[in-house]
Amino acid sequence: MKILFIGDIVGSIGRQMLQDHLPKLKKKYHPDVTIVNGENAAHGKGITEKIYNNFLQWGADVITLGNHAWDKREIFDFIDNAERMARPANFPEDTPGKGIVYYKVGANTVAVINIQGRTFMPPLEDPFREVDRLIKEAKKKTSIIFIDFHAEATSEKQALGWYVDGRASAVVGTHTHVQTADERILHEGTAYITDVGMTGPYDGILGVEKSDVIRRFLTSLPVRFEVPDKGRAQLSGVIVDIDSKTGRSKSIKRITINDDHPFFD
Ligand code: FE2
Repeated sequence: MKILFIGDIVGSIGRQMLQDHLPKLKKKYHPDVTIVNGENAAHGKGITEKIYNNFLQWGADVITLGNHAWDKREIFDFIDNAERMARPANFPEDTPGKGIVYYKVGANTVAVINIQGRTFMPPLEDPFREVDRLIKEAKKKTSIIFIDFHAEATSEKQALGWYVDGRASAVVGTHTHVQTADERILHEGTAYITDVGMTGPYDGILGVEKSDVIRRFLTSLPVRFEVPDKGRAQLSGVIVDIDSKTGRSKSIKRITINDDHPFFD
């Protein structure tokens, strides 16, 4: 069971990059399931129903979110009908949407969990206890459990990775928008990477217009952050190979596409 995960799609440049490269990535890696983090897809903030549907049309199977999940008001109109969308599971109990998506592929089911960190982020329920609960629930249906841990602190991500080692197939970090080079299989078979990185503008800062971010650092004044819609693009992802019987991962490989690391078929 191969799972392709594409990191945070940022704005129109990120969406275009996904549309252009997903067919080529599928041809090269033959994933059974493709998961895309879409929380920054609408001009950096949130996701619309149109974008959600586009992602599915372009070949994504499950969409995950994060702290920007609610930035577009229309999310509340469609999230409860968006079967293939997971928002962070550790929001309060009666929050719209769901934190786990079960996706069937052939004879297998993949449980996709989206969960959010609490260190340097808005307070939510404890992601460690919530993940315990969701893994227990998912194990009744499948041994293939894929977790997108949307978090800021590298320590919190590593801690969750080791905490679920042998209980989840993969823990991939999102949110920082910078890909880390620490992908590995943990001792009990959980594939792990601290951050997958983002898909969007290549010459900005975390996907934002660089002059805006520099100005904020120089002045300490509030600066409106714009997401560029022109310029060079990048794509960040991982491909994880999982033994579908045991749920243990066999390999995890980073994918980086930009002008300095061009895509080869
Ligand atoms: Fe985020």
